[in-house]
Formats: sequence, C-alpha cells, structure tokens
Amino acid sequence: MTTTEHQSVPPTSPSAAVTAGAHATESARAGLSNLRGPAAGGADPQRVATVVGAALEGIRAAIRDHEVTYAEFDAFKQWLIAVSDTGEWPLFLDVYLEHEVEKVAARSQQGSVGTILGPFWLPDQAQLDSPATLPMREDEPGTPMILVGQVTSTDGTPLAGATVDIWHTDDEGWYSGFASRPPAGNLRGVVRCDDQGRYELHTRKPAPYTIPLDGPTGQMTQAAGWSPWRPAHIHLLVAAPGHRTLTSQLFFTGDPYLGNDVASADKPELTLDPQPTGNGAEIRSDRDFVLEPES
Ligand SMILES: [Fe+2]
Repeated sequence: MTTTEHQSVPPTSPSAAVTAGAHATESARAGLSNLRGPAAGGADPQRVATVVGAALEGIRAAIRDHEVTYAEFDAFKQWLIAVSDTGEWPLFLDVYLEHEVEKVAARSQQGSVGTILGPFWLPDQAQLDSPATLPMREDEPGTPMILVGQVTSTDGTPLAGATVDIWHTDDEGWYSGFASRPPAGNLRGVVRCDDQGRYELHTRKPAPYTIPLDGPTGQMTQAAGWSPWRPAHIHLLVAAPGHRTLTSQLFFTGDPYLGNDVASADKPELTLDPQPTGNGAEIRSDRDFVLEPES
C-alpha cells in the first residue's frame, strides 16, 4: 500500500511493508548506479578492515556495555531477517545512516547546503520546461505553491542548462511510485531552467509523514519510543553541466516535526517561509541554488 503511512492511519497488513520495501529496493538497484556512479568496487583490504572493523566493534561494545542477552541477540537476528524479507534495507539505511554519509560528503562540497537523498527518488520522470507545473491529478488536494529561483555557479555565473529534479508527497503524505493512491509520476518532474538558470515551479505543498509503521524499521522505531515522523519537505536534485550535483530537501517554517526528523535530514538553512501571493490560498517561496564546479 504505502511507504508513507501516516501515524493516524490504522496499521495495515504485513504485505504493505513488503510491497513498499520491494519498490524501494528495486528503485535503489535500478536508479542509484546512474545517479551516483557505480558502487565502490575492488575493495581495499585495509579500508575494509578499518571501516567494517570499527562498525563491528561498535556493535560489540553495545553488547558488552549493555549486557545483551541471547534472547535479545536472537530477536536482533529475526529483525535483520525481516528487514531483508520486506526489502527495507534502503529505507532503514537512508533513515538512520545516510545523514552521516551526507555530512562527510558535504565536507568537500561548496555551494548550497544539501541533505540526504532518501529512498523515494525515481529515475525517468517527466521533463518540463520552466515555468512548469508538476504532473498532478485534476483535483490534487493541498495548498497551491510556487517555488522560484535561480541556479548559479559558485562565482555567481547563471547556469544555463541547469535542471531541478523535484519529488515530494501529496497533501496526505503519500509518494507516487510507492503508494497506491497517487498515480505514477504524480508530483514528480525534472524542470529545465531557462538560459539564465531560472526556474519557476507550480505544485502543491507536501505534508509531514511517518516512515512505514507496518515494517521492521517502523516497528523498531516505535519499540524504541522514537518519533517516526518526517517534517513536510520537497526533495531536489539540482544539476548543471560541469558542476557537482546538489542533493537537497526544503522544509517549511512552523512544521511541528522540524528538529525531530526521524531521518535527521532537516537543517535550518533548508527551511522555507512561503508567503501568500494574493491569489486565493496560493503561497510562494524563493530559493536559489549555488553549484560547485567539478574539478
Ligand atoms: Fe521524503
């Protein structure tokens, strides 16, 4: 059914997590090799020993320090098997670990602040010329929203040929491609900027959502008493020829889940404060992006 289950929605059958997890796994397999290049290969034994050794030692320390029992060890094994069976590895890794990888990557990235990609990006979405309206249903619920801005290089040069790949949930917290409600491609698209790197995007304001509560990642989150919520956000991949692609998200001022994002992806620099345009309920926000030239 969905990977974006609202907390207010009753739990669904276990098959919901299996379906959503399988989509996320399939998407990770199909898309990420094109997006970020091939996965690391030709492993350096020293690097493996250092990184894997440190990770294992962290787990061993938790076992020692907290006197983990055989019952808990066996429960851990069952949980790991469930993560595999439901295809939730992309979800679990992107929610609980990707933000640290992103922070490491950001140490060497100039330009606009970025954040995690998450598990819900999909390749091959609608290509749109600015000004653009994201594909949506005739009666798409939610507050009409306009996002406008310009993509420049770190020296201020406008980047003709820049693209802004955007995806976000609908007004009920559902992602197309991962939930049964929105049709394929809903509220997803790749906007081509004009020759000054400017873009104008018409969409609907997204809603906060929880990670799926019917699968092992959500169950572990709730067992720990942690919030499963993500604040409302718009995902973006901002790209231009000769420049390092920016992966980011934009949040909304006043969101009750800001500062308590289960994915630890929200940052103050990424918060929008949309204002009424005077055209009914419509709101507008401005956001420029600065990309770093590839060396
Ligand atoms: Fe998201």
